[in-house]
Amino acid sequence: MYLLGFFLLLLSTSVQAIYSDEAFITDWQLQNIGEYQCVFENENSQYLVTISQFGRESLLSFINEFNGEILFRQPLDFSGVDVMVIDNGSEFVIKDNNSQLRGFNGSTGFPLEKDVGGYDFKSSCQPSMDGFKLKNKTLQVVDPESELVVYKMDLWDNFQRIEYIYTDFKGTLKVLYSTTDSKYVFQLVKNGELISEWSRDESQSDVVAHTVINLPDSSLDSISQEIVQEKDTSNPWEAYNFRVNKNFQRFRDFLRRYHYSPGSMITEMLKTDDDASKEQRELEFGLAKYLVVATQKGKISALNIKNGTTEWSIESNLGNIILLQWFPDSRELIAVDRDGQYEFYNLTNLSQPTLIKKDGCSHTNIDTISFLEGQKFFVTTEDGQKDIVSFSSKAEKPLKHTFISTHDKRHIYGHVITDDDQLRDTWVTTLDDDEEIISFARREDTPTVNLGHILGNRTVLYKYLYPNLISYAVFNKKTGNLFINLIDSVNGALLHSQVHDDRVDPRMPVEMVFGENWFVYSYFSSQPIPEQKLSVVELYESLEPDHRVSDNSTQLNPLVGVHPPSVIAQSYFFPEVIRRMQLSYTKFGITTKSVILELENGQLIYLSKALLNARRKDESELTDDDKKEFMIMPYFSTLPINDHFIITHIRHLIMGPHSKLISIPTNLESTSIVCNLGHDIFCGKITPSGQFDIMSPNFEKGKLIATVIGLVFLCYFIRPSVEAKKLKNSWMVRN
Ligand SMILES: *[C@@H]1O[C@H](CO)[C@@H](O)[C@H](O)[C@H]1NC(C)=O
Ligand SMILES: *[C@@H]1O[C@H](CO)[C@@H](O)[C@H](O)[C@H]1NC(C)=O
Ligand SMILES: *[C@@H]1O[C@H](CO)[C@@H](O)[C@H](O)[C@H]1NC(C)=O
Ligand SMILES: *[C@@H]1O[C@H](CO)[C@@H](O)[C@H](O)[C@H]1NC(C)=O
Ligand SMILES: *[C@@H]1O[C@H](CO)[C@@H](O)[C@H](O)[C@H]1NC(C)=O
Ligand SMILES: *[C@@H]1O[C@H](CO)[C@@H](O)[C@H](O)[C@H]1NC(C)=O
Ligand SMILES: *[C@@H]1O[C@H](CO)[C@@H](O)[C@H](O)[C@H]1NC(C)=O
Ligand SMILES: *[C@@H]1O[C@H](CO)[C@@H](O)[C@H](O)[C@H]1NC(C)=O
Ligand SMILES: *[C@@H]1O[C@H](CO)[C@@H](O)[C@H](O)[C@H]1NC(C)=O
Repeated sequence: MYLLGFFLLLLSTSVQAIYSDEAFITDWQLQNIGEYQCVFENENSQYLVTISQFGRESLLSFINEFNGEILFRQPLDFSGVDVMVIDNGSEFVIKDNNSQLRGFNGSTGFPLEKDVGGYDFKSSCQPSMDGFKLKNKTLQVVDPESELVVYKMDLWDNFQRIEYIYTDFKGTLKVLYSTTDSKYVFQLVKNGELISEWSRDESQSDVVAHTVINLPDSSLDSISQEIVQEKDTSNPWEAYNFRVNKNFQRFRDFLRRYHYSPGSMITEMLKTDDDASKEQRELEFGLAKYLVVATQKGKISALNIKNGTTEWSIESNLGNIILLQWFPDSRELIAVDRDGQYEFYNLTNLSQPTLIKKDGCSHTNIDTISFLEGQKFFVTTEDGQKDIVSFSSKAEKPLKHTFISTHDKRHIYGHVITDDDQLRDTWVTTLDDDEEIISFARREDTPTVNLGHILGNRTVLYKYLYPNLISYAVFNKKTGNLFINLIDSVNGALLHSQVHDDRVDPRMPVEMVFGENWFVYSYFSSQPIPEQKLSVVELYESLEPDHRVSDNSTQLNPLVGVHPPSVIAQSYFFPEVIRRMQLSYTKFGITTKSVILELENGQLIYLSKALLNARRKDESELTDDDKKEFMIMPYFSTLPINDHFIITHIRHLIMGPHSKLISIPTNLESTSIVCNLGHDIFCGKITPSGQFDIMSPNFEKGKLIATVIGLVFLCYFIRPSVEAKKLKNSWMVRN
């Protein structure tokens, strides 16, 4: 018995870590190069060097010749149009769009110090086809002297163009060619034998639109059917009977499945999960999704959000796709382009999209388009028109009374949707001539968990939860000031305004996100030191604890105005330049919100809202009561980058100027999927409050069962001795 007790003690002390590090398992990146403009080789090092278009500039990439993996990529700060290779690739010279020449080291890709202006420029980008013949998708190498075919090689069926070719006429042949579906195929032949062949898929670079498809979990269908059936029976006794019967049936099926053998049931319980049950769990937890992306060239692909594998892809006939939207009820996908053309796909079978409708809407030159309800969208065009467009062929129920606000560089407009789905203008704010809106954020309608913020001394600061709020940043070119305003989106009333006069740099990105009762914005300014700033503004009903202004019994009418919020603001330095910001979304909003940041250095990180707190005070000002507040931290002027919050780990993302940062909630409240879409595609998971609802799949199952069995044994042995002791006690017998 003591041995057993000791064994149990041992078990309890040796519980292993529950969380496993999931880096590089749950996140993935598609590293893209784009369309190759020029390909050449560094013969001494056996890698291919490519120049490709990257936004309005160029990207220099080095590719390993043996497996097609990217060794190194470097965005250039000019647009390269041609290349000359010098000394078998140990150096190369790029000509930019102004005919200026720039030299680079062929092994490192670093710019050369020396002046290359004097070179007699000769392009090396057109592969010379001397000595080669292309016939019926077969490449023939012809000996220059004898004019005999030395070697023949079959190319892929969808061959398009040779990008790079080299042979020494002695049996070595290297060829890189493109295919019609934007793949690049490399084949290396030595002494007549195909030594290596690889292909790179470049069709998913430069994402312009996206949507997410949740894979349906059909395992619950039978249960939901039963519940419906149960509800339909009017007699409660019948319903009870039905339930008991069903459960009994289920139990019998379970026993039958294991042939009534307890042994096989226990082995089944102890078994680690197979792939099928893992997949089922992913469906249940909402981790199984397709990320559908549309690229600049009109290709639409569905990527498995778990590992980035392409599930299907289609070539649309659309030019400049601006929107992809998934309608889960009808299982249809719509793609709309800037010219107002659209295509509907039937995705009843999620692995096989079929085109069902193709048409054009009444607007061309669409500037923005956003989803409203049903199949209705709000459209703004480049010439300033605004409209509500329905892509449905059936009649739809009218929209709810909705207020919409839009903005351009110098105006903010308010509109209201009337009962007959017409758009009516309500108010407009016009800025001064020197002013320009450089950032704009709308309060998202996400679930609110807490009405107030509990302080250390058990008093409450009530949050300002009025939903129709907009914040925006205005830069004044004349004074150089940055104004941050908060307005009511229903009536346009200004609720709060603050100004930064610390020499804001307007060329750097200004980003803004609006959470529950706070907004965060980033800007770069050169005073007191040139540094990235991150500011947070929190809105409360009143700054006096326990004082509530709003009343839960009266309904507010936003048209007559609401009381303005009380505001606390705080600014922090941030060590890296921020290019884009996004809020993290979870299913119920219980998890601490965090702000996801795309940094200039190619990393993705997240900062918890607890860190970005406007109420942080200097340590010396914190009272003992203040220190009792949940997650309170003293104020430090700089927000450090903690390695734990880097979502991309050691990866380097090259995203381009139009990247999009998105956060997708899952059925697990703790977990949100974060994707960055642009030139590259990256997806990973974040858990801002830790994985509080996740246990490792085979969570100490064996030990748990052993402990239970041990406890039963223990009880079995201890019980007689306790009984005996009780008996002795009652007879006052001493041991
Ligand atoms: C060259 O490219 C740059 C962008 O890198 C662009 O700003 C510039 O206008 C281009 N110049 C010409 C002559 O096309
Ligand atoms: C280039 O390579 C060829 C064969 O690989 C060699 O004969 C030639 O000397 C090289 N030229 C230079 C400048 O390195
Ligand atoms: C290129 O860089 C390598 C490594 O730094 C160096 O050894 C080589 O001399 C450089 N080549 C030229 C042409 O500068
Ligand atoms: C091209 O090759 C295919 C099969 O490899 C063959 O069926 C076809 O007849 C060939 N066409 C010509 C013009 O040689
Ligand atoms: C990605 O996940 C899917 C679904 O789980 C699986 O079928 C596929 O083989 C995976 N691909 C890779 C490359 O792991
Ligand atoms: C979509 O495809 C399914 C079969 O995959 C078919 O049953 C259904 O009728 C189609 N829907 C439309 C609207 O064409
Ligand atoms: C869906 O389409 C795939 C690919 O064409 C096919 O293999 C599968 O059988 C289809 N599934 C259904 C339910 O029709
Ligand atoms: C509770 O703490 C807040 C903030 O420190 C302070 O303003 C307030 O007066 C305190 N209330 C009481 C009752 O001590
Ligand atoms: C309104 O708040 C009071 C307490 O302040 C509470 O007793 C009451 O139940 C609330 N009413 C509603 C409708 O929530």
